[in-house]
Amino acid sequence: MALYENVTYDEYDIAEPKADSLIHSIRSFGYELSTAIADLIDNSITAKAKNVWVNFFWNGAASWIAIKDDGIGMTQKELIKAMTLGSKNPLLLRPANDLGRFGLGLKTATFSQCKQLTVGTKLKGENLVVRCWDLDYVSDCRQWRLLKQGSNNLEKEALEGLDQGTLVVWDKLDRVVDEEVKVDDDRAHGLFLEKASIVKKHLAMVFHRFLEGPNPLKIWFNDKLVSPWNPFLIDLKATELLTVEPLFINGKRIEVRPYVLPHHSKMSQEEHAYGAGTKGWNAHQGFYVYRNKRMLVAGDWLGLGFQKEEHYKLARIQIDIPNNLDQEWSIDVKKSKARPPQNIRQDLKRIAKLTRDRASNIYRHRGKIVSRTSGAEFIYLWQQSAKHGKISYKINREHPLVRECNNSIKGNQTLETLLKMLEETIPIPMILLNYSEQSDNIKGPFEDEPPKELNAVLENSLKALLNQGLMISDIKKRLIAMEPFDLYKEYVIARCEEFEEENK
Ligand SMILES: Nc1ncnc2c1ncn2[C@@H]1O[C@H](COP(=O)(O)OP(=O)(O)OP(=O)(O)O)[C@@H](O)[C@H]1O
Ligand SMILES: [Mg+2]
Repeated sequence: MALYENVTYDEYDIAEPKADSLIHSIRSFGYELSTAIADLIDNSITAKAKNVWVNFFWNGAASWIAIKDDGIGMTQKELIKAMTLGSKNPLLLRPANDLGRFGLGLKTATFSQCKQLTVGTKLKGENLVVRCWDLDYVSDCRQWRLLKQGSNNLEKEALEGLDQGTLVVWDKLDRVVDEEVKVDDDRAHGLFLEKASIVKKHLAMVFHRFLEGPNPLKIWFNDKLVSPWNPFLIDLKATELLTVEPLFINGKRIEVRPYVLPHHSKMSQEEHAYGAGTKGWNAHQGFYVYRNKRMLVAGDWLGLGFQKEEHYKLARIQIDIPNNLDQEWSIDVKKSKARPPQNIRQDLKRIAKLTRDRASNIYRHRGKIVSRTSGAEFIYLWQQSAKHGKISYKINREHPLVRECNNSIKGNQTLETLLKMLEETIPIPMILLNYSEQSDNIKGPFEDEPPKELNAVLENSLKALLNQGLMISDIKKRLIAMEPFDLYKEYVIARCEEFEEENK
């Protein structure tokens, strides 16, 4: 400020933002309906609400949405301030359990979806106070005129039954329903209900930690209680929690909890469907960032250089951050993004790698049968075949080791007879029974063999492929795409390179 201390009025112009243009610009923050409603529930939680009611009312073009809470409410002065754009300075220190930051959410979230915002609020023992923004009116009068009366729908969702609380009503939902649509338009009604159902699932996810545990927050969605969606399936015995690590940013502590979820063979169908969440198993892998227990990011590798791949889908890592690191994490107004600060990126990469490796082991170890039917370039020893609706298992005659055997015993039918016998007599019922009863006790490929044994098989396979006239670079690629060498990729690559050196 010191720089401009002596500036006089003839040395500046006042360039106030134009109400009618600005109010339309703030409609394009890029909220989804679900992130917009979550932003309002943030406010209810900060106001210590124990219950939040979200209701969607279908009435064609005049459909409306109400979000009501039994939090502490606001005085008239506080309400007017709350309705003002930029009502709080983002740089101010906030109480540790405050979910807000920018003083914008109520307005930006609302206007991303509708043109009329009415808020009714009351403190314990006080009367209801009401204020309303109507964007059509602001556009017409070109002034920031905050109306003292609002939607008629306010009365329908009245706060009368409550001692205290706040009710937000959204009318003129031009971004949710078509402005021309009729009440009896079944298709539009169906779409409206579908959008409501997406919102409900989103709330179950982002607020799950508030909805769990003793004395939980209750969110009622169209009068039904929302149950939490916990991405870590912590109630399942086979879910693994790896080492929990604290990390520090400017002396402030964050906590990282890496989970590896169970292989699907260890889950019931319902548990598996539950774990898939709103986006599906593959999309839900990665980091989950929570700010004051509120989920901001629901599975993302946070630009750390990892891709979402099928075999890492069991890796889900919880990160807890406080609300005094918002700048460092580049938190946005929508509370839907977070970027890790530079000084912890290496640590997060390390933790991600460990968790992904563990997740991939679990996925592969118990995931062979699935991959066997879908793999493209992978060379399997066993193949599934289905003829006349009956499934059988065959040994792949094109597998390099089988081909090599065949070549070396030219014309002799013993090998073919043996393979046929093996295929016809696999003890499938016994395997199935053992697998369902004690899957933990079934040995994986080369699980407890010393590397020496694996080495002998590797040497023979390598020779078999060389005999087929392949180059070592191709052999390397084929070996690591072959069971069981896919489990020991680095070892196999090193051996191939050594072999190349020896034979130069
Ligand atoms: N349901 C509510 N109950 C009580 N006070 C509320 C409620 N909703 C909003 N407020 C008040 O209005 C203020 C403005 O809310 P708004 O969502 O616009 O900004 P914020 O929550 O401060 O920050 P952010 O932009 O990060 O959400 C809040 O700080 C709070 O004081
Ligand atoms: Mg807010």
